[in-house]
Formats: sequence, C-alpha cells, structure tokens
Amino acid sequence: MATDNVYVLFFLLAFLCIQLIKPNVCDGALTSGCIPAERSALLEFKRGLKDPTNRLSSWVGEDCCKWEGVTCSNHTGHVVKLDLHNPHPLSYVGGEAYNNWTLGGELRPSLLGLKHLKYLDLSMNNFGGISIPEFMGSFHNLQYLILSSAGLGGLLPHQLGNLSNLQYLDLNNDIFVAPVHEFRIGDALWISHLSSLKHLNLKNVKFQNGTHWLEALNMLPSIVEIYLSDCAIQSVPLSLPHVNFTSLSVLDLSDNLIDSTIPSWLSNISGLEYLDISWNSLQGNIPPAFGNLASLKSLHLDNNHLQGGIPTSFKNLCRLQNLILSGINISKDLLELDEIFSGCIKMSLESLDLSETNIRGQLPEWLFQLRKLKVLNLGLNLISGPIPVSIGQLASLQELSLPQNQLNETIPESVWWLSQLVVLDLGYNNLKGVMSEAHFGNLTELKYLSLSSNSLTLKVKSNWLPPFRLESLRMDSCKLGPEFPAWLQSQINISEIVMPNASIIDAMPDWFWSLISTAAYVSVSGNQISGHVPNLFHLNNLYQLDLSSNYFEGPLPYFPSRMYFLDFSNNSFSGTISLDIIMNMPDLIYLSLSKNNLSGEIPFSVCQLQALWVLDLSKNMLSGEIPN
Ligand SMILES: *[C@@H]1O[C@H](CO)[C@@H](O)[C@H](O)[C@H]1NC(C)=O
Ligand SMILES: *[C@@H]1O[C@H](CO)[C@@H](O)[C@H](O)[C@H]1NC(C)=O
Ligand SMILES: *[C@@H]1O[C@H](CO)[C@@H](O)[C@H](O)[C@H]1NC(C)=O
Ligand SMILES: *[C@@H]1O[C@H](CO)[C@@H](O)[C@H](O)[C@H]1NC(C)=O
Ligand SMILES: *[C@@H]1O[C@H](CO)[C@@H](O)[C@H](O)[C@H]1NC(C)=O
Ligand SMILES: *[C@@H]1O[C@H](CO)[C@@H](O)[C@H](O)[C@H]1NC(C)=O
Ligand SMILES: *[C@@H]1O[C@H](CO)[C@@H](O)[C@H](O)[C@H]1NC(C)=O
Ligand SMILES: *[C@@H]1O[C@H](CO)[C@@H](O)[C@H](O)[C@H]1NC(C)=O
Ligand SMILES: *[C@@H]1O[C@H](CO)[C@@H](O)[C@H](O)[C@H]1NC(C)=O
Ligand SMILES: *[C@@H]1O[C@H](CO)[C@@H](O)[C@H](O)[C@H]1NC(C)=O
Ligand SMILES: *[C@@H]1O[C@H](CO)[C@@H](O)[C@H](O)[C@H]1NC(C)=O
Ligand SMILES: *[C@@H]1O[C@H](CO)[C@@H](O)[C@H](O)[C@H]1NC(C)=O
Repeated sequence: MATDNVYVLFFLLAFLCIQLIKPNVCDGALTSGCIPAERSALLEFKRGLKDPTNRLSSWVGEDCCKWEGVTCSNHTGHVVKLDLHNPHPLSYVGGEAYNNWTLGGELRPSLLGLKHLKYLDLSMNNFGGISIPEFMGSFHNLQYLILSSAGLGGLLPHQLGNLSNLQYLDLNNDIFVAPVHEFRIGDALWISHLSSLKHLNLKNVKFQNGTHWLEALNMLPSIVEIYLSDCAIQSVPLSLPHVNFTSLSVLDLSDNLIDSTIPSWLSNISGLEYLDISWNSLQGNIPPAFGNLASLKSLHLDNNHLQGGIPTSFKNLCRLQNLILSGINISKDLLELDEIFSGCIKMSLESLDLSETNIRGQLPEWLFQLRKLKVLNLGLNLISGPIPVSIGQLASLQELSLPQNQLNETIPESVWWLSQLVVLDLGYNNLKGVMSEAHFGNLTELKYLSLSSNSLTLKVKSNWLPPFRLESLRMDSCKLGPEFPAWLQSQINISEIVMPNASIIDAMPDWFWSLISTAAYVSVSGNQISGHVPNLFHLNNLYQLDLSSNYFEGPLPYFPSRMYFLDFSNNSFSGTISLDIIMNMPDLIYLSLSKNNLSGEIPFSVCQLQALWVLDLSKNMLSGEIPN
C-alpha cells in the first residue's frame, strides 16, 4: 500500500517535470515566476537604456513576468514578448522627436538571454541614430520585430536575414527627419532568407543602387504586404522570369524615383488588392492587363507621367473601390469614358479622383450611376456646362470637388440634398446665383466649403445659425456683404477663413479677433472693413494674415511669432514700425506694409529676418537711413 503511494508520487513528480517543462518548477525557483537568467538579461538590458522618467520603474523584484512590457509564456515561463513601444505621440524639440516616455541609450546584447523571444517592439523611442545591433539577427524564435520610428539609423545589418521565423518586420522610419536617423539598405539578398515573412514595412529606408530587392522579395513564399514608399528606389526590373508573389495582397511603391514604364509583372500578381505606385515618374500607358487584377480594391497611379487614357479593361474591375488617377494625362471627353464606368466597376467604386487629368466635356450620366461613390474629385480640368440635377443621386457623397473647371449656370438644388457632404469645393468655375440659409439646411457634416471665384452671393439673415462647424471656408470674390457675416461667429474651430473681395463694407466686429484663435490662415483683403487691429500676440496658430486693401487704421499690432506671411498694405495704419514687432517673427517670408501712413525710421531689426523674400514698405511716410 505504502509502496504503491510512493510510486504514484514518483510518477506524478516525473510527469510534472516532463509534461509541463516548466523550468521554474523543475529548476527549483518556484517562487520567482520568472527564469533567473532571463531576469538578469532584462536587468542588464535596462542598465544600457536611458529612461529619464523612470518608465520602467516596475522592473524591480523577482518576478520579471510582471514587469512593464514583459510577457512570459504560460506554458514554459520564458519571456516571449518584450513590448517597450512608446504609446504617446512624439513632439519635436530642436528637430528631435521626444516625449516624456521616450527611451534611449544603448541596446545591450544581454537581450539575447531571452532565447525564446517571439515579439520585440521598441518603436516610437529615440535611440539617437545608433544602428540596429547585429545580434538582433540571432533571436531564432522571433516572429515580430518592430523597430519603426525608434530613432535608429544606418545600414541595416544583413544578420537580420537569419530570422527565419520572422513574420512581421516593421522598420518604417518616417517620423524622424534628421539624416542620422536614416536607415539604408545595401544588398537586399538577406531579405530572401526571411522565409516566414508576411508583412514587410521598409517605408523611408533608403535603397542604394543595385540592391536586387525585387529578386529578394520574389523569393518569399508567404509575403502578403510590402510597403516600400519613399525609399529612393530608382528603378524596378521591367520583367521577371517568374512571378512568385502568390499571397501578395498589398504593394506600396509610392513616392520613389522610378522613371520607366509600368513593369509588366505587376499585372501577374493575381491576388493584389492594394497597389500604390503614385508619385513616381512612370512613363507610357497604363497596361490593359491591369484589368485582369480581379481582386483589386485600391489602385493609385496618380502623379506620374502616364499617357493614353484609362484602358477599357478597367470595366472588369468588379471589386475596385478606390481609383486615384490625378495628375496623369487622360486627355479625353468624359463621354468617352462611358464604356469603362458603365461596366461592373460602377457597382463597387467609392472613390474616384480624376483631378488634373486634362479631361473635358460635360458631367456625363454614367457618373450618376456610381451609387456607392463617397469621394468625387474632378478638379483642375476643362469640364464645362451646368452641374446636372442628377448629382443628387449620389446620396453617399462625402466629398464633391469640382474646382477649377468651366462649370456654369446655377448650382442645382440637388447639391444641397447631399447631406453627407464633408467637403464641398466648387471654386473657380463660372457658377452664378444666390444662396440662402435654406440651401445649407441639411449640410450638418460640412467641414470644408469653397465657393471661391464664381458669381455667387450668400444672402442670409444676421441671426443665421448654420448647422455645420467649418474647419475651412474659402469664399474669394463671393458676395458675402455688405454687413460683416455675423454667422461666422458660430464657427468656433475654424482654421482657414479666406474671403477676399467679398463685398464687405462694415466695421470689423471685436469677436472676430477671438474667433481666429484657432486659425492658421486668414484673409479679408479687398473689402472695405474698418477699425483698429488689437494685439494679436496670443494667436498661436496664425501664420498667414492678409488684411490688405481695407480701411484699417491705428497703430500696427503685435503679431504672433509663427507668422510667415503678413500683408497689411493699402490701409491707413499709422505710427512707427517698432523694433520688437518685427523681431518677434523670425520665420517671416513676406512682409508688406506699403500704402499706409507709417512714419519714423525703418527698424534695423528688419535685417535680421533671414527668411524674408518680399519686403514692401513703399508709399508710407518713412524717413531716415535705410539700414545696412
Ligand atoms: C496566460 O494566462 C493568462 C491568465 O490566465 C491569460 O490571460 C493569458 O492570455 C495567457 N497568455 C497566453 C500567452 O496564453
Ligand atoms: C507626460 O506628459 C503628459 C502630457 O504631455 C502629462 O500629462 C504627463 O503628466 C507627463 N508625465 C510625466 C511622468 O511627466
Ligand atoms: C547569420 O547570418 C550570417 C550571414 O548572413 C551567417 O554567416 C551566419 O552563419 C548566420 N548565423 C546563424 C547562427 O545562422
Ligand atoms: C543606378 O543604376 C542605374 C542603372 O544601373 C544607373 O543608370 C544610375 O546612374 C545609377 N544611379 C546611381 C546614383 O548610381
Ligand atoms: C520562387 O520562390 C521560391 C521559394 O518560395 C524560390 O525558391 C524560387 O527561387 C523563387 N523563384 C524566383 C524566380 O525567384
Ligand atoms: C503574366 O501573365 C501573362 C498572361 O496573363 C503571361 O503570358 C505571362 O507569361 C505572365 N508572366 C509571368 C512573368 O508570369
Ligand atoms: C496629353 O495627351 C494628349 C493626347 O494624347 C496630348 O496631345 C498632349 O500633348 C498630352 N499632354 C501632355 C502635357 O503631355
Ligand atoms: C455653359 O457652358 C456651355 C458649354 O461650354 C455653353 O454651351 C453654354 O452656352 C454656357 N451657358 C451659359 C449660360 O453661359
Ligand atoms: C433636409 O432634411 C430633412 C429631414 O432631415 C428633409 O425633410 C428635407 O427634405 C431635406 N431637405 C433637402 C433640401 O434635402
Ligand atoms: C478642430 O479642428 C481640427 C482641425 O482643424 C480637428 O482636428 C479637430 O478635431 C476639431 N475639433 C473639434 C472639437 O471639432
Ligand atoms: C480682388 O479683386 C481685385 C480687383 O478686381 C483683384 O486684382 C484681386 O486679384 C482680387 N483678389 C483676390 C484674392 O481675388
Ligand atoms: C486699395 O484699397 C481700396 C479699398 O479697398 C481699393 O478700392 C483699391 O483698389 C486698393 N488699391 C490697390 C492698389 O489695391
């Protein structure tokens, strides 16, 4: 009986030690909850870190599994995850990114003591431009490596190619601007050894010539997402002997220096859902074979030197939601695009951007069949004729941008039914007519309104309370006056108020100077607005202020220090230009005080405005010497 029990106990203990493989039980360190060797590794790693606000204050005591950012496996007790990313937005101090959670210092190799580490995240810190240590390539179990915006820099070590279990590599460095924080990649062959890789983000890593990156990526059997935006890539092979990318769904090559034709192999990546090759210098035609990319949801070809229009095969892109072609040369009448946009693409399209593409003609019927459309941008083209009433059928529209065309006649009532609109831009056309409160009644979501340079009049009661709260108002040459528009008072989070030549003949209300405390850009030039300008010192957001050609008088105010454009010309400001008014604005690029009644000397502080491009003090009553 007793012997039996001993046996049972023996087997039970053996089972515990073999089955659970829990070293902290079997090593006799049951109380710690953390493997002593890993605890020492972490402490030694911490000794190398700079942690000015003691963010790692929890890194004391025996149980390292309870420390901030450390996760241990429930099964083995080993540290499997170290997440020291900085969760707060960084701010810039002297060109460097910091906040009070930023870690820095050195990355000590003791970290290799965490032999079972699967996940390492040091992002959003600032390690002062040191290189990624070569030892990082020796974490054989690592699946996630996130060193994005960690203030690292230099040549990427090829040793990273030893991380054969790595699934996720993020080295996107785009928060940092100083060259010391620039990652560079030489020969990219090592990437081809990352045989488990699914997600690769090398945004902003600078590729040197001859990296053979495409050949390397084409050898990754599991790759799903590739982000290579802003990598200074100069060329891409135009053909590939064999296109391997069987699981590739996202490819971002935007913002590089590629000046060839569009490589043909792109059309062979049959699972592609998101393709962005915008902001390169690509030449030639859009390949008709893109029409075979049946999974495509987003296609960004904008801002290249592409010619020859949109291939008819695009009508078959039945899943396409976003088609962004702005800044390429389409050069067609909108009617000629009928066949393409009447295909099954019309069922899925949510965002269509054909701005600056040399398209002409009138707004066609096919446009109003794109019933899922949320964003429509046809600006900077040669589109003429009236806006058809059918525009009201696009009931989901959040952005309607048709600026800088030749649209004429009145704005149809149906535009004002588009109650989801956030952006309405009809500026720089030949539209005419009078708008009242009723027109804006349903535009509760509106944030950006531009009706500039048409022949439009806004006629509302002085007690009108608009249903929207704008961030930007652009009304150049709209008739808003003669009274100063009192409804503006309700726009309490506005960042741009641009209403030159708006036929306002009135005194500036006092509330205006408080209203613009959120504003960056204010222009009321070319009206007949009178009054004194108070001290503007407190307007911390303001950097562009144009009060020119009005009836303002009295002394010049004190300006906020971020100003870079200041035009007070053609008013009746008087008194002297004081030294410290000017000194306070080191970033000033444009300063015009001409055509006023200013007197006294030109302050020598003007000469310290090192960024200045334009200085106009003409037509005043200034006297004395011109400062050297
Ligand atoms: C470990 O156990 C805890 C508590 O039971 C649980 O919340 C956690 O998800 C487990 N972690 C892993 C990696 O399984
Ligand atoms: C860190 O900064 C935030 C906001 O900038 C502040 O609220 C917080 O108190 C600061 N924390 C420490 C530890 O200084
Ligand atoms: C790591 O990679 C280098 C070259 O990339 C290689 O020489 C070395 O043998 C590798 N080390 C291990 C442990 O695989
Ligand atoms: C990069 O390589 C291409 C083709 O091999 C060559 O034309 C180009 O001049 C090279 N650029 C630099 C900066 O070396
Ligand atoms: C395709 O990928 C496999 C690995 O998945 C690799 O062995 C092969 O060389 C690749 N082919 C080409 C042409 O790169
Ligand atoms: C790409 O696809 C076309 C036809 O769809 C085929 O003829 C061509 O061989 C393919 N190219 C590669 C490199 O796979
Ligand atoms: C745009 O394309 C049209 C027609 O192909 C051509 O006549 C025109 O010169 C092109 N414009 C530019 C700027 O390349
Ligand atoms: C509007 O534009 C169209 C096309 O350019 C033109 O035919 C028509 O005469 C214009 N209408 C008015 C009222 O100017
Ligand atoms: C505005 O919305 C109301 C209900 O919210 C609706 O009754 C009215 O017809 C709409 N007006 C316009 C012009 O769309
Ligand atoms: C105020 O406007 C800014 C953009 O100009 C926006 O980010 C912010 O969310 C707005 N705040 C409120 C309370 O609407
Ligand atoms: C305002 O009108 C004047 C005179 O017509 C013109 O010279 C000026 O360019 C206009 N300013 C703006 C911003 O439209
Ligand atoms: C100066 O302002 C007045 C009043 O707004 C205006 O009539 C006149 O055209 C302006 N002169 C110049 C040169 O802009």
